[in-house]
Amino acid sequence: MPTDLCNRLQQTIGDLLPIRAKKESMPAVTEEIAFQVCLSPDCGATFGIDEILTGCPNCGSLLDAGYEWDRVAVPFSLSEFESRCGQRSRPIDFSGVWRFRELLPFAHDEQIVTIGEGQTILQQAESVAKYVGMDTGNLFLQYEGFNPSGSFKDNGMTAASTHARIVGAKMTACASTGNTSASLAIYGGITGLFQAVVFVGSGKIAYGKLSQALDYGAKTVQIQGDFDDALIAVREICNRENIYLCNSVNPFRLEGQKTIMYRVLESLSWEPPDWIVVPGGNLGNSSAFGKAFLELKQLGLIDRIPRLAVINAAGANTLYEIVNSEGIHWNDGRPQHSHIEEYMTQMDAENRRAETIASAIEINRPVNLTKCLRALSICDGIVREVSDEEILHGKAQVGAGGFGCEPASGASVAGAKRLREEGMIAPSDRVVCILTGHQLKDPNATVGYHTNNDEGSQEFANQPYVVENDIEKILELLSSFQ
Ligand code: F0G
Repeated sequence: MPTDLCNRLQQTIGDLLPIRAKKESMPAVTEEIAFQVCLSPDCGATFGIDEILTGCPNCGSLLDAGYEWDRVAVPFSLSEFESRCGQRSRPIDFSGVWRFRELLPFAHDEQIVTIGEGQTILQQAESVAKYVGMDTGNLFLQYEGFNPSGSFKDNGMTAASTHARIVGAKMTACASTGNTSASLAIYGGITGLFQAVVFVGSGKIAYGKLSQALDYGAKTVQIQGDFDDALIAVREICNRENIYLCNSVNPFRLEGQKTIMYRVLESLSWEPPDWIVVPGGNLGNSSAFGKAFLELKQLGLIDRIPRLAVINAAGANTLYEIVNSEGIHWNDGRPQHSHIEEYMTQMDAENRRAETIASAIEINRPVNLTKCLRALSICDGIVREVSDEEILHGKAQVGAGGFGCEPASGASVAGAKRLREEGMIAPSDRVVCILTGHQLKDPNATVGYHTNNDEGSQEFANQPYVVENDIEKILELLSSFQ
C-alpha cells in the first residue's frame, strides 16, 4: 500500500489497525472531524468542509474528503449498518447511502438531504453468467438504475446536496451527458433547497434523461459542443460566480458513491467479491470505489480488496490509452502529469472527439483521471476498452435476463466477457458488474438494436413481428411461437 496515499486519505490512521473511536464515547457524526485534502503528496493542503472548492486552490489538484477516523464512532462490524435497513420511518436509516453515514461522516444527521436513494439490488444473473463464461452463481449485477432518478448518480447527488445545504448554496450546476443533470434536477426539485442549472452538449443527450431535467424544473442550458466542452465551461462559470458545482470533481459527491460498494458487500454477506467491473466515463465511480475499499481495509472492516476493472468504450478510451499504451500509473501520488498533458494536447491537436453509442460515457477528458489511477493502484486494477457492438450485445443480455440497463452499463458486462476470454477472470471468480443506469433512459438505443436490419449487428435482437390486422393471421403467427 503506498504510504503517501494512506497519509493523504487517513491522516490519522497508522499501521496499527483498526484505530477507531469507542462507540459509546463519541458522537456518531460531526462535521468538525471532516476536512478537504489535496490529492497531491507534494502539496497536501487541507481545507475546512465549509469551503466551496472543486480543486486545490494552491496547486489545482483534485480534492478528497478526509476524516479524523480516530474520532469517528464507526461500528465495529459492517453488519451493524444492515440492521438500519428496515427503519422505513427514519429517512436517514432507510437511505441506502446514509445508513452508512459513519463511513462518510461530514454532516450532522439533521443536515442530511435524502430522497430515498440507494434502494438498489445485487442480483445473481445466470443467463448473463453463461454469456460471460462464468460458473453458475458467480456473476452478479448491481442495479443502480433503481435509484429515484434512474441512475447511480443519486448516490453522489444526495451527498453533494447535503454539502450544498451545509454551505448554504442557493444555486447548483453541473455539466452532464444526461444522468448527472437528471439527478441534480430531482434533488433540486424535490427539496426546493436550490435552483439547479444543468449544462448539456448539443444533440448528445438521450431523451429519457433530458426529459427528466426539464420535467423536474432544472434550468437547462444546451452548449454548442460535447460534454468535455460543457464541463470546461461550467467549471469556469461556477468558479467565477461561486455557484455550487455538482460534477464528480466535487469530493463530497464521491463520498456518496462509495456506498455502492458498501451495498454490494452487504448483499454478499460482507464477503468481498474477486472483481468489480464498472464502466468508465468521467471516472467518478471507479475513484470512489477505490477510496471506499482503502478506507474499509484501513478501518479493519474488510480483510481483502477486490480487483477493479474499468471499462471504456473504444470511442472514448482516454483512460485505456493512458494506462495501457502510455504506461502512466499512480506512482505513489506522482503520475507523470506532463505526459498526461501531452496526451491531451495531442488529442486536441488531432481534434479527436469522443464517439460512442453509450452516450453516458462519451467523454475524452475524464476529470477524475488521477483519482482513478489511485483506485487502480489500491485495487490492483486494470482497464479495457470494448466496441459499441460489444456494449449493445452486453446490454441485450442484461435485458433478456433481468431488469435491463442503458448502453453505458452494458460496457461492464462486455468488459467482464472480454476479461474472461483473456483468462484474466477465472470462471470460478466472483464477479460484480455495476449497472449504472436504467433501461428506460435511452429507449432509442434499445429499439434501434432490436429493430436494426443490418447484417450481423443484431445477434441478440428481439425483432417485432409485423402482421395484418386479421385474427387468423395473428393466430397463425402465435402458433409459430410455441
Ligand atoms: N454509466 C452511466 C449510466 C453514466 O451516466 C455515467 C456518467 C457513467 C456510467 C460513467 O461514470 O463518470 O463515474 O465514470 N455520466 C455522467 C453524466 C458523466 O453526466 O451523467 P463515471
